[in-house]
Amino acid sequence: MQNIVILTGAGISAESGLGTFRDAGGLWEQYPLEQVATPEGFAADPVLVHEFYNARRANCRTAEPNAAHQALARLEREHSGQILIVTQNVDDLHERGGSTNVWHMHGELAQAKCHLCDHRWPAPAKMAASDPCPSCTNPATRPDVIWFGEMPYFMEEIETSLNRADLFVSIGTSGEVYPAAGFVQLARMAGGRTLELNLEPSSGASMFDEVRNGPAGELVPQWVEEVLATA
Ligand code: APR
Repeated sequence: MQNIVILTGAGISAESGLGTFRDAGGLWEQYPLEQVATPEGFAADPVLVHEFYNARRANCRTAEPNAAHQALARLEREHSGQILIVTQNVDDLHERGGSTNVWHMHGELAQAKCHLCDHRWPAPAKMAASDPCPSCTNPATRPDVIWFGEMPYFMEEIETSLNRADLFVSIGTSGEVYPAAGFVQLARMAGGRTLELNLEPSSGASMFDEVRNGPAGELVPQWVEEVLATA
């Protein structure tokens, strides 16, 4: 009975039509990261930041989970050990694909947060900084996503899970952003096996026991078949 921790990044949602960040033509080529994904950028131009996330929320609503999301949901249903998905993605395609044990370490497009009192609530389709917080009533609404310079969610719980993982699998992430890029080392130090499934070798590919390259929509269902066949 294997205990599996799966880290996912933008690459798993690419075949659902959601853009990645660092591939050619990716989001950070179209929008300056400093302007739309930092607390300083939000303080300087909250209207631009809300426009960016409102557009991404709209894209996410029309996107559908792909074969990779669905395969991970099947794994959770049929595998006898524990399956935990730690995602850097702010979309909800894992949940809509059927997975239930999902931690959004970089937050969620579907949530709003007050930047004064930290209250969180379900996001409307379109958000504005002037929207009042339902708790403290201040006009201090921001997307509940983790920006550069902020601490990701669930860090303690993730480290505990990596310590217990028999297998750590990284899917569709470039390995450029810490702390997620360091999870492979934590899992290895704890004695777990490590596998990367990505379109191309990531920056951290040499740290994995095994690397498979190709589209997630093909690699993930194949790998899930193997795990379920050998369990
Ligand atoms: N299948 C598998 N992998 C893919 C696919 C695909 N169809 N398409 C692209 N990829 C791979 C790319 O080769 C790349 O290595 O997905 C990776 C995406 O990398 P990034 O764009 O850097 O996305 P991610 O790793 O999720 O970024 C991490 O950075 O800007 C922040 O907060 C943002 O959560 C994000 C974090």
